[in-house]
Amino acid sequence: MKVLVIGSGGREHSLVWKIAQSPLVSKIFCAPGNPGISELAECINITVDQTEQLCEFAVQENIDLTVVGPEAPLVDGIVDVFNEHGLKVFGPDKKAAILEDSKVFSKSLLKKHGIPTADFKCFDDYQQARRYIASKEAPIVVKADGLSKGKGVFVCKTNDEALQAIDSIMKDKVFGEAGDQIVIEECLVGEEISLLAFTDGKNIVAMESSQDHKTVFDGDTGPNTGGMGAYSPVPLMTDKLYLQVEKEVLVPTVHAMNREGRPYKGVIYIGLMITDVGPMVLEYNVRLGDPEAQVILSRMKSDIVPIMLATISEELDKVDLEWYSQASVCVVMASGGYPGSYDNGKEITGLDSLKNQDGISVFHAGTKSADGKIVTNGGRVLGVVACGEGIEDAQKNVYGAVSKISFDGVHYRRDIASKAITPPTSTI
Ligand code: AMP
Ligand code: GLY
Repeated sequence: MKVLVIGSGGREHSLVWKIAQSPLVSKIFCAPGNPGISELAECINITVDQTEQLCEFAVQENIDLTVVGPEAPLVDGIVDVFNEHGLKVFGPDKKAAILEDSKVFSKSLLKKHGIPTADFKCFDDYQQARRYIASKEAPIVVKADGLSKGKGVFVCKTNDEALQAIDSIMKDKVFGEAGDQIVIEECLVGEEISLLAFTDGKNIVAMESSQDHKTVFDGDTGPNTGGMGAYSPVPLMTDKLYLQVEKEVLVPTVHAMNREGRPYKGVIYIGLMITDVGPMVLEYNVRLGDPEAQVILSRMKSDIVPIMLATISEELDKVDLEWYSQASVCVVMASGGYPGSYDNGKEITGLDSLKNQDGISVFHAGTKSADGKIVTNGGRVLGVVACGEGIEDAQKNVYGAVSKISFDGVHYRRDIASKAITPPTSTI
């Protein structure tokens, strides 16, 4: 089989890495890819928003399966265009991808179908939104409606912060049209878990749990980012909790999308807050998470290709999904300054020392080749993943690997997965 993967980040590198292990696959292309991906796939110079060119390429090369990594092309309707050309493509169509494209849509869906989520109100009027804040008590959460690369959510400790968030989204338009509407919602307290599942609209095959670290600094402080690291599995996700999430969230969501006339096929990502009163939905994404993909795919034992094909042909009831029992941890090495401004073009050293090390993968995200060197080319630069017998072991291994890599201004969190490690009980 020939496979085309669309995207250029760490998620896509881990997807290519996993797909390359499939005995069914003879050739992988990646558009546009990155220097890490180019070691496993042929990178082609077409960007993720060039739908027509991507489709033409898939037709010309007789691509058997196209896998769309990021949300933007899904929201733009790339799956619809590929389907019109009779091409096999993995991901939800435009109608279903609205689940991530609009928080106003997803929150309304949650409310309408009785799926647990924070209380909220939607606004398209700047003054009304400001007045609403005056009637509320902080902490309070302000969210841009549309896509904003994980940066459109403001968890505000004071009413002033909330007013500033409204200003940047609705007045300064830092996220463009994505800020035409906003959601203001109750601030939930608890632990977060990402639960991802394959669904063909009829059947659901859940993946192992993972936890992202959204904020830029240790101790969950600083502004939100695309994700600074992740681990899997999450000890908090017991079998009992999973069954509750399946019953109250996962199954009702897939049914709700059917009832709305928006049948969903692909990976559905549910961001959950585990509160005192049970699991609540924070957000939906319509694709694998980044960096959740890096830790989940590192633990996936089954070949992913038959699962993707079964999702497309609506035969997920016929596949099994097996996992390695080892834990995995991913630490994102970012450019200093991210998620604000940062410089590109810093030489990355130490990559060679980690090649072919069992249980360690270095997934490229924002990198490029320049004069025979690999240099930084984005906010999130690398995702270093290590496996281990348990989370503690994997955490030790990952930081050992991270310490071998450097570039000017590098920033990474030192506490990825620490929350999952039970503090040693004192022995008196
Ligand atoms: P979202 O993109 O909606 O998942 O939001 C990004 C991050 O903001 C989440 O992973 C949470 O850490 C935080 N967040 C979002 N909504 C809430 C909420 N209602 N209460 C507390 N934190 C939230
Ligand atoms: N890691 C969060 C996301 O992919 O949106």
